[in-house]
Amino acid sequence: MRIAIIGADGQLGSDLLKTLARDEVFPLYYPEFDVTQPERMRSVFLSLRPDAVVNTAAFHRVDECEDNPETSFRVNTIAVRDLARLAGELDFSLVHFSTDYVFDGRKTEPYIETDPPNPLNVYAVSKLAGEYFVSALVEKHFLLRTCGLFGQASCREKGYNFVDRMIMLAEQGKPIRVVDDQWVSPTSTAELAERTSDLIRTDHYGLYHMTSEGQCTWFRFAQEVFSLLGKSPRLEPVSSRAFAATARRPLYSVLENKRAKETGLRDFSSWDEALRAYLEKRGLIPR
Ligand SMILES: NC(=O)c1ccc[n+]([C@@H]2O[C@H](COP(=O)([O-])OP(=O)(O)OC[C@H]3O[C@@H](n4cnc5c(N)ncnc54)[C@H](OP(=O)(O)O)[C@@H]3O)[C@@H](O)[C@H]2O)c1
Repeated sequence: MRIAIIGADGQLGSDLLKTLARDEVFPLYYPEFDVTQPERMRSVFLSLRPDAVVNTAAFHRVDECEDNPETSFRVNTIAVRDLARLAGELDFSLVHFSTDYVFDGRKTEPYIETDPPNPLNVYAVSKLAGEYFVSALVEKHFLLRTCGLFGQASCREKGYNFVDRMIMLAEQGKPIRVVDDQWVSPTSTAELAERTSDLIRTDHYGLYHMTSEGQCTWFRFAQEVFSLLGKSPRLEPVSSRAFAATARRPLYSVLENKRAKETGLRDFSSWDEALRAYLEKRGLIPR
């Protein structure tokens, strides 16, 4: 397959680039390739003639999105509409990533693809609007909602992922406050890239939840990081209210990979197994 990867040096993009190495892959890097420049995108895709375009680009610093709704919508919504139009015009399938934050967190069991979204912040509204453009404009689309990514390449937007941030804070020796009332499914980008690679070779188009199995709070996740590393920093559980972030976040955004399982995709590992594999690969714990 001829596959273009947008954001190929990002956290997920880097793993996609490795996983799709046996394909004819065209990595696209920001700022040379910018999803907010539709004419440039058009000319690049006209010359590459991809079968599939995988879009990992996003403006996803969630708190900053509250203060910058224009940028948020430009990257997460309008650019996605432009990509979706190009997919129709140039006949490639569009693989696009979205977020667990499209839900409001009022459910107490994992969200499935048919649950109605109800986003709580600017980032989530802009991502959901992007989803709507993809599903409305492109027949051959894979819309993949995921959660709490951690991968070998640091998250480019944030400069770190949650695991790296915990390690960094522990090295600084300061007390670490982590929210203990937001439930998530932390997800390995290595596994997500593998499952994405399997799925996009099929014609089972549509919306999928794609996360590691199991659930935990961010505090529990941090505890597991330090337990595996054999470290005991001063770790303090706090409530979202006490943490007082700018953007509201759902208290429960665990996703069930219902459709992926029905489609016969290989199961994801549990989040703690995936975390162990990640730390082993980084050489931080022995294999
Ligand atoms: N990270 C998470 O925990 C998480 C959770 C749920 C869903 N998601 C979704 O998963 C996807 C991948 O996330 P990630 O963690 O891999 O993100 P990431 O590490 O920030 O990677 C995004 C990539 O896109 C590039 N990019 C940014 N703006 C661009 C633009 N205007 N045009 C073209 N490329 C641009 C970035 O380049 P620069 O680094 O040079 O800016 C980077 O290479 C996103 O759609 C995100 O919304 C992420």
